[in-house]
Amino acid sequence: MDNVIILAGGQGKRMKADMPKPMFKVLGETMLEWVIGACEKSGLSNICVVKGYKGEMIDEYLGGRYETVLQAERLGTAHAVMQAIPFMEKNSDGNTLVLCGDAPFIDSQTINNSLAMHKENGNSVTVITSEVENPFGYGRIIRSENGITSIVEEKDATDEQKKIREINSGAYWFKTSDLLEALSLVTTNNSQGEYYLTDTIYILLGKGKKADAFISENPDVVLGANDRKGLLMLNKTARENIIGKHLENGVEFTCTDGITIGRDVEIGEGTQILSGTVLTGKTVIGKNCVIGPDCIIENSTVGDNTKLNYVQCYDSQIDDSVKIGPFVQIRPGSHIMTGAKIGDFVEIKNSVIGEGTAVAHLTYVGDSDVGAYVNFGCGVVTVNYDGEKKSRCTIEDNSFIGCNTNLVAPVTVGKGAYTAAGSTITRDVPPDALAIERAKLEMREGYAIKKLKNRKKK
Ligand code: UD1
Ligand code: CA
Repeated sequence: MDNVIILAGGQGKRMKADMPKPMFKVLGETMLEWVIGACEKSGLSNICVVKGYKGEMIDEYLGGRYETVLQAERLGTAHAVMQAIPFMEKNSDGNTLVLCGDAPFIDSQTINNSLAMHKENGNSVTVITSEVENPFGYGRIIRSENGITSIVEEKDATDEQKKIREINSGAYWFKTSDLLEALSLVTTNNSQGEYYLTDTIYILLGKGKKADAFISENPDVVLGANDRKGLLMLNKTARENIIGKHLENGVEFTCTDGITIGRDVEIGEGTQILSGTVLTGKTVIGKNCVIGPDCIIENSTVGDNTKLNYVQCYDSQIDDSVKIGPFVQIRPGSHIMTGAKIGDFVEIKNSVIGEGTAVAHLTYVGDSDVGAYVNFGCGVVTVNYDGEKKSRCTIEDNSFIGCNTNLVAPVTVGKGAYTAAGSTITRDVPPDALAIERAKLEMREGYAIKKLKNRKKK
C-alpha cells in the first residue's frame, strides 16, 4: 500500500499568529485540508501528518482522522520524514508520497501522473518539479545528460546553479524501502546544518538506483505563503482558478467582485453568480439560477431556475424555481420545495416549506412542517420555544395564515384552514375552519374628546 507523509511542522512566524502554518485557511479551508483533499481524491488514505509547532492544534483539527507524529525539534525536512519511519515500516512494500502541508495547490492529477511515471520507470525517487519565472529560495534541479543528479538549495547554490529555473516543489514519490534506507544516510553537512530530504536524491543515485523529475503542468504546485500578503495571494490564485473552471463549465459572471467559491462547490450551466456571493462547503447549485448579489450559501443544495437575492443559507436544501430574498436567512435543516416564494426579512429554521407556498414578508418559521400552497400573511411568527423546549408546528396544504398570527407550538393548522389576522393560535385548527383567537373589538365612542377636555383643564 502507498503511504503519504505530510510535513506540517512549520510555525509561520511572519504570519504573526500563534498557530501552525498549515492551519491557515485558503478560501475558508485550511491549507492542510487542501493537501489532504488532493490525496483523498487520488485514492490515498494512508496518511501521516508530521506536526511540530503547536502540534496539538493539528491533532484537534484532524480529530483522529489520520495518524500524526511529532517532530520535537526542527532539524530539516529529512529529519521531519524520519519521525514517520515507524509509520512507513508498517507498510514498506509500496511507495511513499511526501508533501508539504503549506503548499495547498498540489492536485490529484499531478499526484497520479507522477506516480504513474514513478512506477513505469521503476524509480526510487521521483521529484515533482516546476519551471518558474523566479526560482529564488527554492531548491534547484541539477541535471546531466542522464537526467536529474541532485537538488541544490538556494543557500548552497553557486551563481551558475542559481540561474536554473526548474525547482523542487517539495513533493516527491519514493519507493518506501529505498526512502527508509536513504534516510539513514542523510547528514547535516550543508550551509544550514539541517537534514535535507533533497539529499536522498544523490544518495539513491549513488546506490545505482533511479531518480527522475516529473515536471508538473500545474504551475501552482509550488506556491506557499510566508506571510499574510502571501496568504492573500494564495486566496487570489485559488479564487481565480476556481472561477476560471466555472466559466469553462458555462457559469456566468458579469464581474468577480467579492465572489468567493469554495473548492468543492458545483454549479450548473447557465447559472449567473452576482457580486459579493460566497459559496462554500459541499454546496451544489443547479442550472439557470441567479445567485446574488451578496448571497452566502454554505453546505446547501439548490435546484434549477432558482433565484436567490441577498440570501444567507446554511445546511439546507432549496428546490427548483424557488424565489428567495432580499434579506432572508435560511438556517440549518430547512427544505424549501419547488416553486416556493420567500420574501424580504424572513427567517426559516429547521423547517419544510412545501411546494408553491408563499412566505412573503417579515416572518419567522422555525421547527415547522409547512405543506403546499400555503399563504403566510405579513409578520407571522411560529412560537416554537417556551424557554425550555422547542416544539413543532404543522401547517397543512392550502391553509391561509393571517397577518401577524402567532402559532404557539405544538399546534396544527389543518388543510385549507384560515387564521384571522392578529390571532395567537394556541389550539389545533381543524381543516377548512377559521380560527380567531384575539380580543373582541370594543368601541368607546367619544373617548378622546373627554380626554382632551381633562387636559385643557390642567
Ligand atoms: C524545501 C526544499 C526545497 C524546495 C522547497 C519547496 C529541502 C532541504 N528543501 O525548502 O528544495 O524547493 O522546500 O517549498 O527539503 N518542515 C518540517 N520540519 C523541518 C523542516 C521543514 O516539518 O524540520 C516542513 C515545513 O513546515 C514545510 C516543509 O517541510 O511544510 C518544507 O520546509 P521549508 O522550510 O519550507 O523548506 P525549504 O527550506 O523552503
Ligand atoms: Ca519553503
